[in-house]
Amino acid sequence: MQKDLGSYRRSYEKSELSEASISDNPLELFQKWFYEVEASGGVDEPNAMTVSSIGADGYPKSRVVLLKKFTYEGFIFYTNYESEKGKAILANSKVCISFFWPNMERQIIIKGNAEKIAENLSDGYFESRPEGSKLGAIVSRQSEVIPNREYLESKLKELEKSYLDKEIERPSYWGGFIVKPVSIEFWQGRPNRLHDRIRYSLQADYDWKIERLAP
Ligand SMILES: Cc1cc2nc3c(=O)[nH]c(=O)nc-3n(C[C@H](O)[C@H](O)[C@H](O)COP(=O)(O)O)c2cc1C
Repeated sequence: MQKDLGSYRRSYEKSELSEASISDNPLELFQKWFYEVEASGGVDEPNAMTVSSIGADGYPKSRVVLLKKFTYEGFIFYTNYESEKGKAILANSKVCISFFWPNMERQIIIKGNAEKIAENLSDGYFESRPEGSKLGAIVSRQSEVIPNREYLESKLKELEKSYLDKEIERPSYWGGFIVKPVSIEFWQGRPNRLHDRIRYSLQADYDWKIERLAP
């Protein structure tokens, strides 16, 4: 089997990124781009991001998760701490997260260190989830091998019965990670492959160094 994709080619012409137009703090530029993507309406889930971690087997692995909050401190997502990614991150906190917003011809790549958020923050977010999502988090021992689909569905039915009149509490193995950035790179597609790339690197004194990279 083979398919040649050499003729897939597109010129990026929507926007540009210049040193003159950006803030000293990359979180502010992140926010600006995020709002612009949201307002464009051209991306179904603008908060979908790829998280890459290094596993115990030495391989990087990437998967999509949903960004649930960002602040000057970092980027928060929720997951199962005992999943493949959870174990990987708890053993090696260095991760990379990235966003690709094709309609805006933009990519953001963030390197940082991930850590568990405070339990009360995870409790608060868990509480805000719909009941089905709460039970789903309890039913699924994320990333473990299971015999078949029916196994999951019958476990969910059992749980639904046992929680009929009970409050569903957050299981201790489920919660948030915050990724505290050390480097954030903004990529804006430009014509003739001369894309704009601006990288912010965190300095020891918590200042951000701003550099332009060759495309
Ligand atoms: C659009 C989308 C959103 C997702 N959001 C999450 C999420 O917020 N948290 C999560 O744990 N998994 C999420 N997943 C599932 C993950 O991609 C992945 O399958 C799961 O976390 C297990 O990954 P792991 O085995 O590498 O730990 C999402 C998948 C997609 C496609």
